[in-house]
Amino acid sequence: MLGGTALNETWTYIDGDYPLAMPTDAGAMHSVAGKVVIVTGSGRGIGLGMALHLAKGGAKVVVAEWKQDLLASAVAQLEALGADCLGVAVNIMERDQIDAMVTATIERFGRVDGLINNAQTFRPLAEIKSVTESDIDVFIQSGVKGTLWAMQAVYPHMAEQKWGRIINFASSMGITGGAGFAAYGASKEAIRALTRTAAREWAMDGIVVNAIAPAAATHKGDSAKQSEGYRQFIENCPMRRQGDPEWDIGPLAWFLCSDASRYLTGHTFMADGGAFMWA
Ligand SMILES: NC(=O)c1ccc[n+]([C@@H]2O[C@H](COP(=O)([O-])OP(=O)(O)OC[C@H]3O[C@@H](n4cnc5c(N)ncnc54)[C@H](O)[C@@H]3O)[C@@H](O)[C@H]2O)c1
Repeated sequence: MLGGTALNETWTYIDGDYPLAMPTDAGAMHSVAGKVVIVTGSGRGIGLGMALHLAKGGAKVVVAEWKQDLLASAVAQLEALGADCLGVAVNIMERDQIDAMVTATIERFGRVDGLINNAQTFRPLAEIKSVTESDIDVFIQSGVKGTLWAMQAVYPHMAEQKWGRIINFASSMGITGGAGFAAYGASKEAIRALTRTAAREWAMDGIVVNAIAPAAATHKGDSAKQSEGYRQFIENCPMRRQGDPEWDIGPLAWFLCSDASRYLTGHTFMADGGAFMWA
C-alpha cells in the first residue's frame, strides 16, 4: 500500500493515463491570469492582501466575506484595479452558505481554479485549563469544518477539469504549541491534517493542496505591537519584521495558485521571515 492506495492501482494509472501535460511556456506556468480564485475572509488582512495581489496578476477573484462593510470595501478596491471580481457574503461556519459561495462562483465564471481557505473566526486567548466549549466550537466550526466543507464543495469542479489549487491556513502557534493558543492551535493543526490527506487523495485529480502559516500585520495595527507575543516574534525573526499581507504573503499565494506549484503538495509553507524554521 502507498498512502492508502494499492500500489498497482497507482502505477497502472500513471503508466496508462497520466493527466498532466508538460508546459511549454515558463511565463504562462507562473501566471495566474484568468484563474478563478475564491479567497475566504478577504475583506481585510491577509485575505485582502492576497486578493489584491492575485487580481493584479489578472486572476478573477471571489471575495468571500461575512462582514458587509468589509466585503463592499474589498470589492471596491478590486474594481478600482479593473479586476473581474465577485463579492459573496458568506459565513464559513454555515455549510449551506459555503455551497452557495461555490455555486455563485460557477454561475458567474463557469469554473473554479483556486480556493484559499483563509477566514477563521477568532476567540480570546485562553490558557488550556480555562478553554470553554464555545471557544473550541467556534475555532473548529470556522477553521476545521469551514475548510473541509469548502474543499468538498470545489472538489467536483476541480476534479472534472483535472486542475485545482487549494491553500489552507495554518499557524506557527499550532505547530509550536503557543501558550494561550490551545483551541486555536488545535484547529490549525487539524487543518494541516486535512491538507495532507486531501493532498494525497486528490493528487491524481490534478489538485494540489498546501497550507500557509503566515506572520503578517493585522487590522489591529500598531496596538498589536505592544504585546509580549509581538516582542518575542520580532526577537525570534531573522528579518526583524512582520510580513506585509499583500507583498509578503500574496506572492506565495500567487505561486501556489499557479501551474508552477504542480509538484508540491501536502506541505505547510512558513511565510514568516524565517521566524519558525522547523522543517
Ligand atoms: N496575521 C498573522 O500573523 C497570522 C498568523 C498565523 C495565522 N494566521 C491566519 O491567517 C488567516 C488570516 O489572518 P488575518 O490576520 O488576516 O485575520 P483578520 O482577522 O485580519 O481577517 C480575517 C478575515 O476573515 C473574516 N472572517 C472571520 N470569520 C469569518 C466567517 N465566519 N465567515 C467569513 N469570513 C470570516 C473577517 O471578517 C476578516 O475579514 C487566518 O486563518 C489566521 O488564523 C494569521
